[in-house]
Amino acid sequence: MQYDKPMLAEGSLSGKVVVVTGGGTGLGKSMSRYFAELGAHLVLCSRKQEVLDQAAEEIASETGAEVLAQACDIRKYDEVEALKEATLERFGSVDVLVNNAAGNFVSPTERLSHSAFDAIIDIVLKGSKNCTLCFGKDWIGKGQKDKVVLNIITTYAWTGSPFVVPSAMAKAGVLAMTRSLAVEWAKYGIRQNAIAPGPFPTEGAWNRLMPGNIPDRLNVVNQIPLRRAGDHQELSNLAAYLISDFSAYINGEVVTIDGGEWLQDAGQLAFLEQLSSSDWDDMAQMIKGLKGKS
Ligand code: HXC
Ligand code: NAP
Repeated sequence: MQYDKPMLAEGSLSGKVVVVTGGGTGLGKSMSRYFAELGAHLVLCSRKQEVLDQAAEEIASETGAEVLAQACDIRKYDEVEALKEATLERFGSVDVLVNNAAGNFVSPTERLSHSAFDAIIDIVLKGSKNCTLCFGKDWIGKGQKDKVVLNIITTYAWTGSPFVVPSAMAKAGVLAMTRSLAVEWAKYGIRQNAIAPGPFPTEGAWNRLMPGNIPDRLNVVNQIPLRRAGDHQELSNLAAYLISDFSAYINGEVVTIDGGEWLQDAGQLAFLEQLSSSDWDDMAQMIKGLKGKS
């Protein structure tokens, strides 16, 4: 299986300027590294300048890409404006925005304070809106076309989920924004798509949200039909395709990459997975017996 290998041809993102929020850690960093390998120039932002500087240096030295690392709290519109200005000053234009930054608490909702709720909604929903509006207005105002916004959401954006309610509400909003603007801004040459990842091991999502041995105790991987977590390269392959010219006719789509996790218990008869092979043999015999009686 080649899923952990780079998928696109060298130079597939050549010359594109890609802004990745939360690009200094986790999935944001992995996607950014691959975009750079494919020839993109990068703008990485998040709140911690030292984390960004380290990621930028690493990626630039590995790939030779030009990387701008700028601290920006996406909850604050003036900081997003400043990010855009710095990007334009360095690169002249922007081609792609990846709304990847997020915050989350795994907690019973009644244990969350109202400001904890706001912390998540402000990062995920307001932050993604701030970036989309800021870069989108600039593209539209200048009449620039062939631009892409890629939003990293979750599968519980449409199913909802207990214990991550602020995140689920905010990601649902980002999904609504994706689909709404896919229609409204297509006339300006701006595409909008989303990726809904399942479990991909990262420091932020795994170690900080569910510390200690809780993921092992709960056997997270057992909830996934393919019985494995995602590999960062396979997500990066998908993201690179969705921001590349090869996906030019894909607009308003959300692509799930989760090994089938969200559908695991969705089918009415999914609980039959608990039956053994001999249970199935017994059941077949019983059914045959019933047929003979009627
Ligand atoms: C409950 C908490 C809390 C916690 C803080 N608060 N941590 N409440 N559980 N673990 C409360 C605080 O007491 C405070 O409320 C309010 O939240 C704001 O706290 P701050 O520390 O000021 O928040 P802030 O600086 O805005 O940072 C919040 C954060 C940070 C961004 C979420 O904690 C963080 O960086 N988390 C780890 C990164 C992360 O979440 N990555 C997830 C991406 S994965 P009061 O009332 O005291 O003022 C993802 C999908 C995962 O999204 C899907 C699989 C699980
Ligand atoms: P992560 O490493 O914690 O990434 C979150 C990033 O967002 C960090 O770099 C963080 O940096 C940044 N950020 C948080 N608040 C910010 C703010 N106000 N302004 C700017 N940046 C901010 O987690 P991850 O696992 O890679 O998650 C990446 C994306 O994938 C998220 O959208 C997440 O919801 C999604 N996702 C992940 C998984 C998974 O299993 N990993 C599953 C489903 C969806 P600072 O703290 O320095 O600001």
